[in-house]
Parts: sequence; structure tokens; C-alpha cells
Amino acid sequence: MEKKKRYLVTSALPYANGPLHIGHLAGAYLTADTYVKYLRLKGEDVFYICGSDEHGAAITLRAKNEGISPQEIVDKYHNQIKTSFEQLGFDFDIYHRTSSDIHRDTAQDFFKTLDDKGIFNVERSEQYYDEEYKQFLADRYITGECPKCSHPSAYGDQCENCGSSLSPTELINPVSTLSGKSPILKETEHYYLPLDESQDWVSEWLERGLDDGVEQHDVSEWKKHVLGQCTSWLKEGLKPRAMTRDLDWGVPVPGKPGKVLYVWMDAPIGYVSAAKQWALDHNKSWELYWKETDTKLVHFIGKDNIVFHCIIFPILLKLHGGFVLPDNVPANEFMNLESKKISTSRNWAVWVHEYIESYPERLDDLRYVLTSIAPESKDAEFTWLDYQARVNNELVAILGNFVNRSVVLTHKYYEGEIPDVELKAEDNHFLNKAQEFVQQIEQDIEAYRFRSAQAAMMSIARIGNKYLADEEPWKQIKTDPERVKQILRTAIDLCACLSMVCHPFLPNTGVKLRRMLGAEAHSWPTTYSEYSTMRSGKLAQTEMLFSKVEDQLVEDETNRLQSSKEIIEEPKTNYVEFEDFGKMDFRVGEILSAEKHPDADKLLVLKVQNEDKVHTIVSGIAQQFSPEEVTGKKVCFLANLSPKKLRGILSEGMILMAENEAGELAFLEPSKAMPAGAKVS
Ligand code: 2FM
Ligand code: ZN
Repeated sequence: MEKKKRYLVTSALPYANGPLHIGHLAGAYLTADTYVKYLRLKGEDVFYICGSDEHGAAITLRAKNEGISPQEIVDKYHNQIKTSFEQLGFDFDIYHRTSSDIHRDTAQDFFKTLDDKGIFNVERSEQYYDEEYKQFLADRYITGECPKCSHPSAYGDQCENCGSSLSPTELINPVSTLSGKSPILKETEHYYLPLDESQDWVSEWLERGLDDGVEQHDVSEWKKHVLGQCTSWLKEGLKPRAMTRDLDWGVPVPGKPGKVLYVWMDAPIGYVSAAKQWALDHNKSWELYWKETDTKLVHFIGKDNIVFHCIIFPILLKLHGGFVLPDNVPANEFMNLESKKISTSRNWAVWVHEYIESYPERLDDLRYVLTSIAPESKDAEFTWLDYQARVNNELVAILGNFVNRSVVLTHKYYEGEIPDVELKAEDNHFLNKAQEFVQQIEQDIEAYRFRSAQAAMMSIARIGNKYLADEEPWKQIKTDPERVKQILRTAIDLCACLSMVCHPFLPNTGVKLRRMLGAEAHSWPTTYSEYSTMRSGKLAQTEMLFSKVEDQLVEDETNRLQSSKEIIEEPKTNYVEFEDFGKMDFRVGEILSAEKHPDADKLLVLKVQNEDKVHTIVSGIAQQFSPEEVTGKKVCFLANLSPKKLRGILSEGMILMAENEAGELAFLEPSKAMPAGAKVS
């Protein structure tokens, strides 16, 4: 296959519904940024896109939990996440948002093009509806028992316990997360994408890399677990999937008020709209990257996004026409934390913004550790002890130590002037060996093996240490000072090599190292003879590249996690401020009379005597109590509830009732005689 001329790289657009954690970084971001940094050093034409996914239930659920609007949620987290990425030194060309106008227009145009081509099937079906909230329920708003593993709280689209993908009607005893009640099924109309009709095409494309008989990508370069997931979807047979939803937060479906695009149609189009915005901002062509067939499109994602990027989005792109298809989707698996699944809701996470704030000097440490344990082909685990060990035994002891010894000795013996001497054949041979590792890094990165690539980078420092240990310049300086010049020049040339090849993994370290070396060039070394061009003739001041992680840090972080565990394990209580409690005027009331509501079977209309006022109270107790049984009772009621019309009758308060699991109701009656109007507090 012909080599592609330019790269279009995307990282999954994170939902702007909460802060970033290390699991995100390890999934779809760090690898992509490493890939992009490497390609740029090699002088490739790379366009790297990311941004916030601002629609879908992920956003509206969080807004509901935080008690603010979806717009406020996305504004808050978009800014926070964008800042974290900037602080970590990510090289996005654009960090865009799917709530932007250009995105709405792009997504609507995309939808219209497919609709005009007659691709969608408009079908009526019954979907779950919350009667109390008067809205259709997105899959994530319905929970119930998993039909496959009986887990009690599976979501309408997926069981997080067994990983099965579900549809809401498969759940046993479904409950709306909005009202907590069982939803009803109600008829509605949606636009279905007949994925089944693309089954043959997408199988051929995924399994053989062919699009209409033309080779598009090399299937052997795809990760096994990615293809495995796709194959199991294909085996089950693709089914039509609705591309619209009855919601009010999202990209409106043109001409269909009350409907928005399905977030998984909307979000990946975000990669296109981001490219358009970037082109506008920089007076460039976005089509060059999205439409020319010699572009290599690579989507970096986490494993929960595989089907969307490998099946649904490619089908959408293909049916629309005119776009390139992904060359590869090197999805990562999940990162666990201290033996447990990372969880935002349970605060079991290392939050990136907190880490940056606590350890601003340790940004590369985090990058390093996360790449070392990247979940490339199976789930991985982050622990603080392992973090400490990797920083101390690898970054400090190997890379930091090699660079430090080389520059300190050069300062000591030559006041920082790098000896301008010819190297011996064995030194060149040694540098050439380092270059073999550089080639190994290239092969690994190009095959999306970032762990191995980073390990090869460290091998360069490791052989550097061995070289110094074997040559012992600190001894030879007394016996053969001329030889020491060659040794230190070799060592410094190796540092120059490292200053370039560490950049994709450790960008801040690369900056420090190049500053020490007075390096001007910034490119990927293709032969060892280029190393000396990647430094000046004189070293600048020595800087420490890394510092040891003390036990205290590990202890602090472990304690912090433990305390969030305690918070999690405490029963959840929603406390009410005393002040709020004090606002409520509870009283003993005497039920003077009761009658059935003329228009509602469940309601009784009560006349309740307070101190010197009679309240009319409409109460939903008619199915358990007759008017006769309640008349004359002294009960507890809330007297200052704002009056509200219930089925045409103004109700001025609420009778307090106790309810057991069977739904039986009981009044709260004073345990000894109390006058009507007695205060309850
Ligand atoms: O899983 C997620 O976080 C999604 N927001 C990823 C979307 S990727 C793309 F389609 F935009
Ligand atoms: Zn399950």
C-alpha cells in the first residue's frame, strides 16, 4: 500500500461532565499525544483534533445531580478539562466543543444529506416514558435488572457488571432515574440507520481492509481486542439503530421540533466540525485532511467506544460519501486504580487537575508511569507504590542519573565546553547501538506499541549508564585525560539523542534537556551522526530532571483514596440545613370533614382545623381511607406548603403519612391529647 501523505489524528471527545482522571489519560489521550509528538518531530504533516462532547445523557444527568443547567455543566468542565490538557503539554491543533454553532450546522447538514439520500427509515415504536417528568427516557435514564447476569442496576444501554450491551426494554423491572418510578411505554417516531444493510460492506472493510475492493488499511496492524469486539458485533448481526432522540438537549433534528440527534451520531461528527473551525481560524483547508484519500485517519479511543468508531461512524461516513475512513482505531483497555475500577461517582480516581496542582514539577512523571503501564492489550492497574517505584528506579536512577553524570562531569572537567574531538570506532559503534533503539522506538510507535517504545527510549539511557560505568571517566581522568574527552563527548551526544527521542513521552524533560544542551534543532535523529548537531558546543547550567518520590507522597495519596472510600461507604444522607427545617410550619390539625374528590379516585378533600384557620387539603389517600374513617382524627400536617391546585381544587397544606414497603399508609397522630394548631417541631 502506498504511504499516506498526511495524518488526521483524533482523541475521543471527552464528555464535559466531570474532571479528567488518570484512566482517561491512559485510554485515549496520552498515546495519541505521544504519537502526534513523534510524527511532528519526524516532520510529518499531522492534524490533531480533540474537544468536548457536550451532549447526551452523560451531561444532563450530571446537571441534574449538581442542580445546575446542562449549559453550565459543559461550560464548567470544558474549561477545566481544556486547561488540564494544556498544563500537561498536549499538542492538539484544536480543542473544540460540540455545543458550538459550527458543530450544530455540520451535524445537521450531515443528517440532511443522509436523509435526502433516503438512508433513514422513519419508524414508530414504543419507548419508555416518565409520566411524572413528561419525557421520553434516554437509555441512561433507565435502570433495572440485567437480563443476562441479574445485576440489579444495569443501564438501558449496557450492564456495567457483565458488559452486555442492552436495549431498555430488555431490563427487568425498569425504573426511571428521574422520578424513581416505573416508566410506561409510549409510541414515538424515530430515524433509524439500517446498520444491517451495511453489514457486508463493514465486514469486508474491517476484516480485510477493503472498501469497494480497494485496499484501505492493513488489518494486521489492528489490535486483536479491537477486531475481536467488532467481530462479535458482526456475528450477532447488526441491527437498525435510531439516530434521533426525544430530548431537549442536543443538536436539533432539522424540521422535527422536540427531537435531537443521537449523541453517538452527533459526537464523532465533532471531529469534522472541529476541523472546519480550525480551517477557519488558520485559513487552511479542512477537506485536505478529511477528504483526500492519502490521509491516514487514526482514532485514539477507550475500549468502550470501539463499536461507535469501528462500525457506526465508518458506516455513517461511507453512506454520506466523500470522507476518508479510519486507517486504524488503536483502542486501549481500562486502567484500574489500587485494585478497583476507577469511578467518578464514587470519587475513586486520581484527578488530573488535582495532581497538576499538587505536583506541578511531576507532570512528566505521571506521563511516564501511565505510558509504562498503558492498557494497550489488557486492563492495567495504577498504584501509588508502583508510581513511586517507577519514578525512583527508572526516571531518577536511569535517565536522570545518566544525564546528570554526563553534564556534571563535563562541567567539572571542561567548564561545560563539550570536547570537540574525534570519537573512537568503539564510541561510534556504541552510538550506533543507541540508534538501533531509536529505530525500535519508531517501529513501536508506528505500530501503536507505546509501552515498548518508551522502554526502548529508556534503554538508551540504560546503555549510557553502562558505558559510563565501563569507561569510568572519573578514574581515567587521572590516567588518560585525552580518552575522557572522547567519553564525555560520546555521553553528551547520547544526551542530545535522548533530548529528542524523549520528547514524545516526556515533553517537559525534553525541554529541560535541550536547554542544558543549548540545542536549537528539534527533529527526530535518523543516524547517530546527527546527535552532535542536536546540541551546541557548550552546556548551559545543570538542571535536575527528576526527583525522588518520598514515602510521604505515597502515604498522602493512599490516605486520600481511603478517605474517599469511607465517604462512599457511609450511607448516603441528604442533609437539610437547620434553617431550612425551621421554615416549615408543622402543626397538629383536626380533620373536620372529608369527601371524595369529584374528579379523581385517589384523592380526598379534607377540611383541617389549624389554630384559627381551616385549611382545605387535597390528599392522595382515598384508596386506603374512607371519608368516614378519617373525619375527627388529629393528625400532623405541613401548614405553610405553598397552595397548589390539584385537579381543580386549591390545596393548602399536606398531611404527613408514614408508608411501609407494602405501600400501606398511616397517619401520625399525637400520643396524647393535643389541641388543633399545636406546633410540631
Ligand atoms: O466516551 C466518551 O467519553 C465519549 N464522549 C467519547 C466520544 S468520542 C467521539 F465520538 F466524539
Ligand atoms: Zn449484566
